[in-house]
Amino acid sequence: MPPDLLPRAYLALRLSDEAMARIGAACRVERFEGRGQPSKEELRACLGEIDGLLGSTQLPVDAEVLASAPLLRVVSNFGVGYDNVDLAAATARGVLVCNTPGVLTDAVADLTLGLIVALARRLPDAARFVREGHWAPGRPLPELGSDLRGKTLGIVGLGRIGRAVAQRAHGFGMRIVFHDVFRDPGEDGFCEYRDFDDLLREADFVSLHVNLTDETKQLIGARELALMQPHAYLVNTARGQVVDQPALTEALREGRIAGAALDVLAQEPPAPDEPLLSLPNVIVLPHIGSATRETRRAMLDLAIENLLAALRGETPRCVANPEALERWRARE
Ligand code: 8YV
Repeated sequence: MPPDLLPRAYLALRLSDEAMARIGAACRVERFEGRGQPSKEELRACLGEIDGLLGSTQLPVDAEVLASAPLLRVVSNFGVGYDNVDLAAATARGVLVCNTPGVLTDAVADLTLGLIVALARRLPDAARFVREGHWAPGRPLPELGSDLRGKTLGIVGLGRIGRAVAQRAHGFGMRIVFHDVFRDPGEDGFCEYRDFDDLLREADFVSLHVNLTDETKQLIGARELALMQPHAYLVNTARGQVVDQPALTEALREGRIAGAALDVLAQEPPAPDEPLLSLPNVIVLPHIGSATRETRRAMLDLAIENLLAALRGETPRCVANPEALERWRARE
């Protein structure tokens, strides 16, 4: 195809030369040259002639951004989540929204178990104890942790990642209860269904694995935290907005739950004075669920594959809004 007929792709991510070359072989490439990622205003200013957009799961692709891109046919997210995109507006315009499910499941599940172990065995306290020079002969070690065997893990959202967490935790000898819109755990027969409130009352660890939607926004608030046991821990590797952060802060401050491990926050990165950061019983990570070399590579391969397939007029492997396909085909 003559180069000036190739589709135009806008890359809102910093990519390796190899990835750029792969996209560049099939598209005219424009990319964000600023620091971090484009703001909504910057995006709107760039998308006028763009056919395909590749960006992170934090890129704000709302109805106004979509309206600024009349030729746009695909938004390819580098990630499994797509709560950054106004799905209804994309569907109405016949724009496909693609994501990268599956390839990051193990990485996120591994991190979740790491956080559960870190909370149970008080790893941050123990590491601080050594670093601050308190490890000396005859000195008591930091407070004892607790075993995982026999403890109950409550999984909220038994999708791909929730199941991978359940399987790992089962291997650690934990009991698994789950809550989801379905009750039958299928192949994972060791997982027992619970009503949401019962799960919160029963679990020693509550781990969140739901997509962020209108239904799951602030799913864990003051009421839910009050149902949890005082020795229980909350783990969130899903989305920060699933938790009412001020309510969590208060529950942690008052010792109404024992602690929390959060890979995600309502605002990322948080303000320097975010109160959660100063609490001793909280582990906060900078959204690293998928951040391994192997996983990030597989995510990028899949995100590029989705982008290029859509721009060739082929149905991509992972479409988050299949109901847009008909309108999308009609535009091709
Ligand atoms: C991000 C994630 O994609 O996949 C998701 O939904 O939240 C992460 O893997 C990653 O931070 C890059 O945007």
